[in-house]
Amino acid sequence: MTTRRKEDARATAAPMLLDETAVQRARKSLEDGAVTPSSSPWREQIIELLNDSLATELVCVLRYKRHHYTASGMASPAIAAEFMVHAQEETAHADRLAERIVQLGGEPDFCPTRLLERSHADYDESTDLKTMVRANLVAERVAVEVYRQMIALIGDKDPTTRRMLEDILVDEEEHADELKDLLQE
Ligand SMILES: [Fe+2]
Ligand SMILES: [Fe+2]
Repeated sequence: MTTRRKEDARATAAPMLLDETAVQRARKSLEDGAVTPSSSPWREQIIELLNDSLATELVCVLRYKRHHYTASGMASPAIAAEFMVHAQEETAHADRLAERIVQLGGEPDFCPTRLLERSHADYDESTDLKTMVRANLVAERVAVEVYRQMIALIGDKDPTTRRMLEDILVDEEEHADELKDLLQE
């Protein structure tokens, strides 16, 4: 191998070196808790994205509860029960998002007047069972698309947040799948 080719080979296989300065800086600023130098450049933008998702989850809880309590008709008991299960799962998602926002040093936004502004999904006051199912399916598909995009955007900038979003995405895909089946019944 020529010297030039050896240099090229070395350049393409960059050594896996830790950023020792960042590791040393992690020993300081203890008040930042889990926020360390490698996470900070993206922290604020990630918190913003998580707060929009928190609003989305809370609007979904309200929509599912409204539908649970107002559903009527032949098929309503089973479907109303499903709406409540989804409401509880969206509540768990909201809790995970709020907890992560705080871990990242942010403040979870639970302000009622800002919920609809921030939410990716809509509230819905349909009274007909089929229209309710359809509105929920639209909201779930929006949630699936947004979580997929967030996971791609965050990538390795914050692996813990990404894994949490991947968990939530699994649930949202299941919700969408169940609603699609209900719509076809
Ligand atoms: Fe959710
Ligand atoms: Fe969902």
